Amino acid sequence: MTSRPVASNPAARTAAEEPSRYGSAATSSTHPPARRIRTHHLREMKERGEKFTMLTTYDTSTAQVFDEAGIDVLLVGDSASGVVYGHPNSIPITVDELLPLARAVARSATRALVMGDLPFGSYQASPEQAYATATRFMKEAGVAAVKLEGGAEVLPQIQRLTRGGIPVCAHIGFTPQHEHALGGYRVQGRGDMAARVLADAHAVQDAGAFAVLMEMIPADLAEQVTRDLSIPTIGIGAGSHTDAQVLVWQDAFGLNTGRLPRFVRQYADIHGLLLNAARRYADDVKTGAFPGPENTF
Ligand code: KIV
Repeated sequence: MTSRPVASNPAARTAAEEPSRYGSAATSSTHPPARRIRTHHLREMKERGEKFTMLTTYDTSTAQVFDEAGIDVLLVGDSASGVVYGHPNSIPITVDELLPLARAVARSATRALVMGDLPFGSYQASPEQAYATATRFMKEAGVAAVKLEGGAEVLPQIQRLTRGGIPVCAHIGFTPQHEHALGGYRVQGRGDMAARVLADAHAVQDAGAFAVLMEMIPADLAEQVTRDLSIPTIGIGAGSHTDAQVLVWQDAFGLNTGRLPRFVRQYADIHGLLLNAARRYADDVKTGAFPGPENTF
């Protein structure tokens, strides 16, 4: 590969003069960098009765926006399987597919704690397998914590990671990687099954998890878990009494269309905005209105 002598090229502009076509890894904010959120800050927020926020994030642009908005935790979720790679569920995504997304998010967030999700099949076999996968997320992607799905059945994994210096968030209740075993997307922990969710929550805390994410469980059960545990609880479809909330951003901001789960509130219509912008662009190109003189050298 040849390299061009940039400095001797009179037409060359410095990086500072040239607006990047590909965005920038630095945030556009002029504010001084905020203090990095760490796991102990989340616990302190719980102790103060202050809620924290979490969104899924899969790329540099949204990482910068959510970080600037003050979202406390960015989860590079295995939901990327669907929203990034187009699979019908979270089962097919691999570690090698999720790692580059996690790396982009970790590079781009200056304040938020970035958490990587361990894909299906990358940690269940043994504590050593879990440690090897989580280590890749920390070393190759630069995440500050990992999430894995399961309660009692993954305690050895949580203990191994915690002992090895890897903060772990356990995901209990409805666990999408177990969709087939659970018989589809359904609320967990109703009636007699509440005891099992409660036991899982206590067990993952005792094993060393720094937080527990609860998906699609009754609100009163999530409230009880939140009261019982000293570690923070994060809810998705678990009512309003958890210490934090998380949503998949494409659901929350309206990039995903179609039927949304009941636990989602839609804060924007990004699909509509993008559709309109893309149509206007296409019209302008076809009619010759773009590029105009101001876009032309
Ligand atoms: O992968 C994911 O997006 C999740 C959700 C619960 C937020 O785990």
